[in-house]
Amino acid sequence: MSEWQHSTANRKVFIKTFGCQMNVYDSDRMAEALAPLGYAQSESIDDADLVILNTCHIREKAAEKVYSELGRVREARERRREAGEGDTLIAVAGCVAQAEGQEIIRRAPAVDIVVGAQSYHRLPELLGRAGRGEKVVETEFPEEDKFAELPKRAATRRPSAFLTVQEGCDKFCTFCVVPYTRGAEFSRPVEEVLAEARRLADFGVRELTVLGQNVNAYHGEGPDGKDWSLARLMHALAEIPGIERLRYTTSHPLDMTDDLYAAHRDLPQMMPYLHLPFQAGSDHILAKMNRRHTADEYRRAIDKLRGARPDIALSTDIIVGFPGETDADFEATMQLVREIGFASAFSFKYSSRPGTPAAEMDEQVPEDVKLDRLHTLQALLAEQQRAFNDSMVGRTLPVLFEASGRNAGQLTGRSPYLQPVHVEAPAEAVGQIVDVEITQAGANSLKGVIKPL
Ligand code: SAH
Ligand code: SF4
Ligand code: F3S
Repeated sequence: MSEWQHSTANRKVFIKTFGCQMNVYDSDRMAEALAPLGYAQSESIDDADLVILNTCHIREKAAEKVYSELGRVREARERRREAGEGDTLIAVAGCVAQAEGQEIIRRAPAVDIVVGAQSYHRLPELLGRAGRGEKVVETEFPEEDKFAELPKRAATRRPSAFLTVQEGCDKFCTFCVVPYTRGAEFSRPVEEVLAEARRLADFGVRELTVLGQNVNAYHGEGPDGKDWSLARLMHALAEIPGIERLRYTTSHPLDMTDDLYAAHRDLPQMMPYLHLPFQAGSDHILAKMNRRHTADEYRRAIDKLRGARPDIALSTDIIVGFPGETDADFEATMQLVREIGFASAFSFKYSSRPGTPAAEMDEQVPEDVKLDRLHTLQALLAEQQRAFNDSMVGRTLPVLFEASGRNAGQLTGRSPYLQPVHVEAPAEAVGQIVDVEITQAGANSLKGVIKPL
């Protein structure tokens, strides 16, 4: 260890996470990688010796947020310097780091470290270099398996955990930056995943959400030397004592395989809820997006899911205003939403991303048209979500209690359909799955009472 690293004992790191669940997972792992250097996590930038912004590049707004946040971080650093409280190192990690690299330091010279999502296991070394005054940019895709290099998972008190099993994407949808920011598809070996899952179960984790940009394309090497599918991995995870709930996200319709439908049918641990993006309802737009499936193929995937697990609730991602989208194309999206019925959904205005094929396409849709369509779509989605939540009232649902709620004596948990549920319950119930009678539904959450035994 260098002298500088010794001097970091009892320091604080503040990590702010943008973007998807993969970034949430990565932020936790960065914190774990820094703990051996004496960094404890802080809830505030004001007392942090190191600030990490873990960034998202998916839409222009997401990427631009980083720069406004960097302004705040710089001010905090100046306040600390003036108060004689020491210096603050500033790191930008994640997908903006990967996409923009050196450009970040050009635009925001206060930044000390730029580190891509594939290289954060090298943070201790990068910090050493930055501590000696070097500006560090690490955006190569390294040879080694980052996950194997990271320290083991640290204890967690939350009963629900993310576990990344797959990274990157080879699909190259024409609107999307992920294949460039996260690189080629990579699946972690089965044993490595199972070891991490067992460790989390030992810490009291009851629910695992298995993550990947394209998680159902998982094909990690199994102990038998063969590639395992996601379905096979799910079967192995379901056998771990303590793991009572399994989820996976995000999936691509093309990789919904028969063994995965069967797993939904056969594994009671698999929750009856799936996020399966369709992006657009018009075949013409789907083709231009390079999604490689039609609207009918998506319908068939949903039919199969419902055949395997009739109570499954669905969530999706939808983009409006992709280049060339006509009123009729948009109506096809609305129609698909009406037909399927979603329990929840994320919808976005198309955002042109540098370097992607769609950014070069003619017939970009004007902003006001995009906004109109987004409002129309979101009104329908909100109606569906509300109807779905309302249909829970009077039902008894198993709720995994995750944390204390906003009010004293209240806990917050999740239904099988991922709805937040607020219940009066004793603090000891955190980590338990308890039958709750649903008494009230809101737009985004439910309320209920614990069923007397
Ligand atoms: N791997 C996932 C999606 C990751 S990005 C999948 O294939 O489904 C999350 C969502 O952001 C996408 O599903 C898409 O709906 C949206 N998105 C991605 N690029 C976008 C862009 N350029 N403009 C608007 N929305 C976008
Ligand atoms: Fe992006 Fe498409 Fe890959 Fe999803 S499947 S990450 S939308 S390129
Ligand atoms: Fe954003 Fe990167 Fe996730 S671009 S959505 S943080 S993979």
